[in-house]
Amino acid sequence: MAVPAVSDVDHNPSLSDDRPLAIEIDGVGKVYQSSDGAVTALGSVNLDIRKGEFISLLGPSGCGKTTLLRIVAGLEEATTGHVHLHGRGLDGLGFVFQRDVLLNWLTIIDNVLLPIDFKNKKPKAYRDRARQLLATFGLEGFENKRPWELSGGMRQRAAICRALIDDPELLLMDEPFGALDALTRDELNVELQSLWQHSNKTALFVTHSISEAVFLSDRVVVVSDKPGRIVEVLDIDFARPRSLDIREEAVFGRYSRHLRGLLEQTDANHKG
Ligand SMILES: Nc1ncnc2c1ncn2[C@@H]1O[C@H](COP(=O)(O)OP(=O)(O)OP(=O)(O)O)[C@@H](O)[C@H]1O
Ligand SMILES: [Mg+2]
Repeated sequence: MAVPAVSDVDHNPSLSDDRPLAIEIDGVGKVYQSSDGAVTALGSVNLDIRKGEFISLLGPSGCGKTTLLRIVAGLEEATTGHVHLHGRGLDGLGFVFQRDVLLNWLTIIDNVLLPIDFKNKKPKAYRDRARQLLATFGLEGFENKRPWELSGGMRQRAAICRALIDDPELLLMDEPFGALDALTRDELNVELQSLWQHSNKTALFVTHSISEAVFLSDRVVVVSDKPGRIVEVLDIDFARPRSLDIREEAVFGRYSRHLRGLLEQTDANHKG
């Protein structure tokens, strides 16, 4: 099947700029040993990400997106290749997991302060920042509630605040909005864009949603499965800040169709 081309789209010159590298992913492969043999989760992945870029990983379930994110975060070891983090390295990294992993026995603010605790820093000095972050994400007044008293969207917001508490340079997000309703997801996409844009962070974002990837990203990295590898890296050329209305534009439709074609091809190869 032919993948529709992205025609009439100029490549964004700012993407071939000379911003310093933030993340170098160099020949990263991963083989898991499971009860029924070895599973090659990632083939050999190469990707350079520049400081301040917003990159999305888009691909089918099981193609190795979480694995790649966990290797970048140092939570998993690569079988081959390596990842180089510039700047503050692992210390400058915030992670939002695929499922919000708030601790039910802690208040929301204490959940947000958890990374500070882990790093043996003094939580007291960060309490005001935690309050500010929670307010930015619409959670003012919920600081002393427990996670089970909040909706899924609110818990996911709290998880994002936790990833941001130590002002990371790199924000790694694994389908943070996957479980949310469409309107909440839209709203959080806009909030995330704004936060990212104003803080000059580098973001690596995993999603199943084509429109979310196009809306948020400077570049969308399409990953195929068995084993996971990069099929294409697509530059997304829309000015910032972007409003949700860009989704109605013809160019947005062309990007989306192109990405859908790539995903369908991946799926067809897999089945065929
Ligand atoms: N700890 C593990 N042990 C064995 N196999 C694993 C382990 N973690 C992941 N895998 C396998 O590696 C492959 C990639 O998994 P991964 O979770 O990275 O995919 P994913 O792209 O994040 O999927 P999803 O979109 O469903 O979250 C899958 O085939 C999975 O079964
Ligand atoms: Mg995953």
